[in-house]
Order: sequence, then structure tokens, then C-alpha cells
Amino acid sequence: MPAIAFMLPHVRIVNVPLGARSYEIKIGPGLLSELGRHCARLKLGNRCAVISDRNVAPRFARVVQQSLKKAGFDSVLITVPAGETAKSLKVVEHCYDALAKHRLERKSFIVALGGGVVGDLAGFVAATYLRGIAFVQVPTTLLAQVDSSVGGKVGVNLKSGKNLVGAFHQPRLVLCDINTLKTLPLRELRAGLAEVIKYGIIYDAELFKRLERDLKKLLRREPKTLTDVIARCCEIKADVVGQDETESGLRAILNFGHTIGHAIENISGYGKYLHGEAISIGQVAAAKISGVVLDMTIQDAERIAKIFRAAGLPTQIRLTPVQLKKLLAAMRLDKKVSAGEIKFVLAKRIGEVIWNQKVSDELVVNALNHSPLSS
Ligand SMILES: NC(=O)c1ccc[n+]([C@@H]2O[C@H](COP(=O)([O-])OP(=O)(O)OC[C@H]3O[C@@H](n4cnc5c(N)ncnc54)[C@H](O)[C@@H]3O)[C@@H](O)[C@H]2O)c1
Ligand SMILES: [Zn+2]
Repeated sequence: MPAIAFMLPHVRIVNVPLGARSYEIKIGPGLLSELGRHCARLKLGNRCAVISDRNVAPRFARVVQQSLKKAGFDSVLITVPAGETAKSLKVVEHCYDALAKHRLERKSFIVALGGGVVGDLAGFVAATYLRGIAFVQVPTTLLAQVDSSVGGKVGVNLKSGKNLVGAFHQPRLVLCDINTLKTLPLRELRAGLAEVIKYGIIYDAELFKRLERDLKKLLRREPKTLTDVIARCCEIKADVVGQDETESGLRAILNFGHTIGHAIENISGYGKYLHGEAISIGQVAAAKISGVVLDMTIQDAERIAKIFRAAGLPTQIRLTPVQLKKLLAAMRLDKKVSAGEIKFVLAKRIGEVIWNQKVSDELVVNALNHSPLSS
């Protein structure tokens, strides 16, 4: 069954159709204070832990814990450092200890309150504590609301690489309170838009058109536009994940722009570019390559470059020959590579992509070096 979204007064609901593990994503303003009521409907145990980070907890943990208390839940707050470093086995162990101390048991659950880092970390803790307990995602960044909180991928980093330890563990509910985005730094909002635009390119030409029209409203964080657009992105991700839960085929299209994007993050040292910034450059390059390999029109490639620029995202990177070599090597190390061959997701046109496309190093170099598109 396809994912469906429908309209309540201010809240949009998207169903993620995964059989017995199906769940709902609720999107709208003011949902944090309704968390307890929604959890009560899921028939979860009475104890829970809210895992959050040092930026998010001071802002939103109180209203979340009060809502849980009102619905009869006994919650403990576990605060972890902000940023990618929290996705480590050391922090996972710290969380396990806190759960055990608070006597969480098989029917207890975890609330992940924060961005993608907290979602991945808390989801991994939930997937493994007592061989797996329930968890609820309460994403507070745009990237987490449209991407990381949906689909069930959870995990942490090792010194040798990102996301090397993980699991598939679906949440029981995702609650996106649009109001939390009011305090998100503008740079993070723009980075989230890179994933939003990606959904238009890979799946939905109408969404892309709407983004061209409404980008300013999104940058102004206009609640109705945010709610509608986030709901559409969640529907698309739900559709894709529903057809390919464990990433054996279709789910690959979500990686449009990511082969080059991950390599940029890797060679420039994690932290210089936000993920959304790196995949913005990656998507513009993938569009150029698509023009050569799949005859995508120059007009479509232009529109793609233009919308990323309008979102305030970088679309080009200046690399020395040495850096370029490193980038090609990093692309080969990406875990999406199979049998040594780099496979790209490329676009035929805005709204339609094909995965598993072979691309030569030369094409990548050309796409990054020369800019046939106006800048
Ligand atoms: N599981 C998946 O499918 C998936 C998909 C994409 C990305 N990811 C992961 O997501 C992570 C990135 O997520 P992210 O971009 O949300 O980063 P993040 O979680 O680090 O959040 C970005 C920053 O914003 C702060 N913040 C969060 N919400 C805020 C708010 N409402 N107001 C003010 N500050 C706020 C955070 O403390 C942090 O400093 C990466 O680790 C990536 O691997 C996972
Ligand atoms: Zn991404």
C-alpha cells in the first residue's frame, strides 16, 4: 500500500507502510506537548528515557518530560554532547548505564529528542539494549525531520569511519514539531534544504517546482509551507523505504549527489562542510554528469544549480590536483561501492533518476572542474 498523507487542522500524518512495523509520522506546530498522549496510544511500558543533546535538551526537554508525565509515564533525561562526536560507542555505553540505573525493562521505551545525531545514537541504543526496546523519534532539525528519523537506519561511528556500526530498527512513531525549527541555526536549516531539494530531483517534479516558488517561505520558516513540504518529503522517503526497507535496490536513489558529497566530507575533514553543503555540491555535479550520460537537458541542470544557490548552499568546490586525486580515492572507499566499481544515481530529468550508473573518473573530474552552468 502506498504511503498516504492527509490533512487535519494543522497536522499532517504520513503512514510508513512496513507491515507489522508500520508507523506514523506526525508533522505540525506544537506537537511536543502532545508526545505523552501519542505514546499512551502505542501501549508502551510506563518507564522511558529521553535522550537529547546539550543544545536541544535545555530548549525542549522540559515540555517533553511534562507531556510524558501528564500521560502517566516516568521518564529520565539523558543528555549527551552536541555534534557528531556523540555518535560513539563510549556514549552508547554511557546511555546503557543510565537506562539500567533507571531500571528500564523490555516494555520501556526511548524518546530520541534532537537532530540526526541523537536519532541515530538513541535509535542504536534502543535497537540493542535488552536486545531491542521501542523508540520514538522527535526530530528537531530539518535534516532529521525529512531524512534521518524516517527509515529505521540507526548507528554510530568508529574511528575508522562513519556509521560503521548499526542496525535497522524502526521507530514506533515520529513526531515532527515544526516549532522546534525556530531555534535552528540558519546554516543548519539551509543544509536540511539540500535533502528537501533532493526529493524533488529524485522523485517529484511538482515538489521541485513548488520549492522553486516557495524557497523564501521555507527560509523564513513559514509554518504551513514547512509542514506541507516536510510531509511530502516524508511521504517520498516512506514510499521508497516501504518498497526497499533494507537497501537492496530502490533505496539507492536516496543517495543522489551523495557519492561525491561523502567524498567531499571525507577529504575536507568532517566538520568543514555540513553534510547538506557537501551533497549540494555533489548534486550539482551529478546533474552535470547526468547531462552527459543520460542526456538530461541543460535547462534542468541549470534549474538544479540555481535552486541550490538560492538556498544559500555551495554548488562548487575548488580542488588542487592532489585533492582531486584524494577525492576519487575516497569515492572508491565509500561503502556503496561494490566490486570496486563506483555506481552513481543519475537523473534523466528533474523528478526521475536511475541508479547503478557507471561513471568514469574523467566525467567526475570534468563535472567538478569545469562549470558549463552559470554560477
Ligand atoms: N539514519 C539515517 O537514515 C540518516 C540519514 C541522514 C543523516 N543521518 C545522520 O544524521 C546526522 C546529522 O544530523 P543533523 O544534521 O540533524 O545534525 P545534528 O544532530 O548534529 O544537529 C545539528 C546541530 O543543531 C543542533 N540542534 C538540533 N536541533 C536544534 C534546534 N531545534 N534548535 C537549535 N539547535 C538545534 C544540534 O545540537 C547540533 O549542534 C549525521 O550523523 C548523519 O550520519 C542519518
Ligand atoms: Zn544525506
